[in-house]
Amino acid sequence: MFENIKNLFPVFEKNPNLVFLDTAASALKPKEMIDATNNCYSYEYANVHRGLYSLSSNLTKKFENTRIQVSDFISSHSEENIIFTKSATEGINLVVDKFSEKYLSEGDEVLISYLEHHANIVPWHIAAKKYKFKVVPIILNEVGEIDYNDFNDKINSRTKFISLAHMSNVTGSITDFEIIKKRIKGLNIPMMIDGCQFIAHSKLNVLELDCDFYVFSGHKIYGPSGVGVLYMKDKWLEIFNPYQGGGSMIDTVEIENTKFAKGFQKFEAGTPPIAQVIGLGASINFVNKIGLKDIFNYEKELHDYTLEKLSFDDDVLIYGKSLNKGAIISFNINGIHANDLAMFLDQKNIAVRTGHHCCQPLMKYLKITSTARASFGIYNNKDDADLFVSSVFEAKKFFI
Ligand SMILES: Cc1ncc(COP(=O)(O)O)c(C=O)c1O
Repeated sequence: MFENIKNLFPVFEKNPNLVFLDTAASALKPKEMIDATNNCYSYEYANVHRGLYSLSSNLTKKFENTRIQVSDFISSHSEENIIFTKSATEGINLVVDKFSEKYLSEGDEVLISYLEHHANIVPWHIAAKKYKFKVVPIILNEVGEIDYNDFNDKINSRTKFISLAHMSNVTGSITDFEIIKKRIKGLNIPMMIDGCQFIAHSKLNVLELDCDFYVFSGHKIYGPSGVGVLYMKDKWLEIFNPYQGGGSMIDTVEIENTKFAKGFQKFEAGTPPIAQVIGLGASINFVNKIGLKDIFNYEKELHDYTLEKLSFDDDVLIYGKSLNKGAIISFNINGIHANDLAMFLDQKNIAVRTGHHCCQPLMKYLKITSTARASFGIYNNKDDADLFVSSVFEAKKFFI
């Protein structure tokens, strides 16, 4: 299956030698997904939830079927728990905003970690300023996972919310929510999981995770940008006030007052990202056909193969050596700036990301300012890994 998979991604028709190692930032797009989006705009398009005419009602059906598809994909018990947003960032902001306004005030604590992407830090800072609660970070262990002992210690009667990444976009480590769940059992502390990096690489079951909220972005899972998913437990659908007001989220409106719609509808104000949701459905189909178990194993093998070769050289500093991790390798080479390395690799048509990866607190924690990051997707293969590794060592010779 994976041998010919590049044929399914049009970018390789034009650029057959591209070695794309930046899937953690955004995945390349399969033809199947592009076609679904194209078809939607070309032949199926009308606004959804509004028209009685066939074009609109047919697309509404397809749009709502995607909600069911997403629900099945993440093993939610109902599509009623799936809210379409414009991104994971918007999903996190929604939860932070709505939870903080109802439940957080001076003396309360929200637990995050040093692994978090800015998307799971900055919204908390904004709310903390407004509602005067404290954002408490969990430190990391030596292999780049959250330190579960520190997590244990930092849970206390002031802890009112936990918000953690499922998989780090820098160290690649996958958080063990079995440990987290055990520690907070019976404490009634709601939990949000940022699944941006996990979603395209491993099978997800939100019911097993028992999280209150789970977010991810379509573009990380071979789908379009402009669409995100927020899974929310029933209880919060009822309790939370709307995030935005406008069309589609209402039951009735009188000139003086509005009665809101119930359930996910209350959180989907305005025209939704229609073609993006249809594209997301196609990308989930695509991933399902390959199978997430095979994807994880395939990418893991590539990761281990690459890491082993890179690790031969003591000048290669690896950030994140957890045994429980996805296919992301963040590294620096002694004496070379990550940006120089990336530009050298670009000349060989190898795309890696460099910088702080929207994780400045993590960079500071690691006492660095940036890393180079190679992140794998289903279209990578051992030839990619070999060229990447030999080019990194060539860069070392060139710069040092
Ligand atoms: C771990 C993690 N969380 C959140 C985000 C934010 O995703 P988006 O920009 O699609 O909202 C990203 C994106 O890189 C990420 O890697």
